[in-house]
Amino acid sequence: MKSFALSTLSFSAAETLVPVTPPPLCPDLDKNEICSTECSDARDSCYSGCGNDYTCANRCNVVWLDCLETCPCSSGCPDGCDGCPHPVCESTEQYLFMINYDWSFDNKALLLRLSDDTFIESSFNYRFDIMDVDDACYSYIKGNHYFLGGYYNPRAIIKVTDCEFKLQDDELMVPHIDGMWGSCTTYFDQAHLCFSEDGVGAKKCQRFDGENQETDISASSFGSKMKKKRSIVFFYFGVHFFNNLREILTQESRHPHDWTAMAVYDNKMWVVGGCDPDDFSACHNHVEYYIHNNYSWFSGPEHPAEKVYGGLVLGDASGLYTFAGRGPNQGRSVFRMRSGSWSFLGQMTAAAGYSYYFSSGKIVGNFAYVGENNFEKVNLEDEAFPLSTNIGPEYESLNLYYAAMILTDRPICIE
Ligand SMILES: *[C@@H]1O[C@H](CO)[C@@H](O)[C@H](O)[C@H]1NC(C)=O
Repeated sequence: MKSFALSTLSFSAAETLVPVTPPPLCPDLDKNEICSTECSDARDSCYSGCGNDYTCANRCNVVWLDCLETCPCSSGCPDGCDGCPHPVCESTEQYLFMINYDWSFDNKALLLRLSDDTFIESSFNYRFDIMDVDDACYSYIKGNHYFLGGYYNPRAIIKVTDCEFKLQDDELMVPHIDGMWGSCTTYFDQAHLCFSEDGVGAKKCQRFDGENQETDISASSFGSKMKKKRSIVFFYFGVHFFNNLREILTQESRHPHDWTAMAVYDNKMWVVGGCDPDDFSACHNHVEYYIHNNYSWFSGPEHPAEKVYGGLVLGDASGLYTFAGRGPNQGRSVFRMRSGSWSFLGQMTAAAGYSYYFSSGKIVGNFAYVGENNFEKVNLEDEAFPLSTNIGPEYESLNLYYAAMILTDRPICIE
């Protein structure tokens, strides 16, 4: 791991503060994301004026929580924009702001304007001299956008703010490598970082909520817990972090899920397929789901493909979807699971066939925007025709690789 010297301020929101988790069935989660991102940007600016004054930082946190509460889909506006006075509900334009490791050498970013599917060049300071987010987990937690872990600095916690990466003082106490290794998603306002064989383990997860961390202690290793704890302390972290790590007794997943992806649907966190890190011929189609506060994995319906891995999994209120993947004939396929069974929705356009696979995507409204070297807009409405449209951009190799796609209602980071 590279060593970093940074003086980023880091304050803790008081532990009594209520987390704000938008209900997954709220009709305006896109507006909630834009709104909560603005609240968190405002909190960062507020912090930066505080120096070492902790009462000031606490005031920033109070303002931040009030701000989150007024967002559509928060407790102040439980029905989304219906009857919600927040100005974000008035804005008509939306953009996907995209950043990813493969563009870091050029400090490049792209905006996709969703009203007419046009791409707009923008820029982002990746601070590549000190930060490398190859195979990091992108996670959006209460308006904060993070890159967590990664191949070169598996304990890094990096925040996306003011058009640049900011390395945080805190680190992940258990290393995590995502992308071709583990999987992650945000579930109940916590990043769930799972299945990283050199970190928490091929059948386990750790969680991060922006401040606190939790790690699974599996039921099977419970007997050796004390021994394990001690070796973790010396091996990974150093005593300094020890008090921050909450250990949770969790059942392991039944299968390893290396090199796949997770998403939230029906209030559950799903993992679809993947591989055995000890045997790369052993990729599979097993589906499992995890329930918040239950700490158990349950078996779900198997994916129709014999093997599914190295693709994209997304969820929304009406289904869990897989896009492409590296299994046989999966390069363009789209499947949906709803109410316990899978169906084949169709193939993405031929253009998508030239992509190796898809690793990046986001659902906004009725559409999934998915990309790698090409960019597809997939219509998720029932019986949609055509299922997908290739929306460019012009140049062949887009090079999106586990990209963050952040919603905004105005063009950002344009020089
Ligand atoms: C988790 O759910 C299962 C099945 O509903 C139940 O038997 C078990 O007691 C639950 N465990 C916890 C810790 O809530």
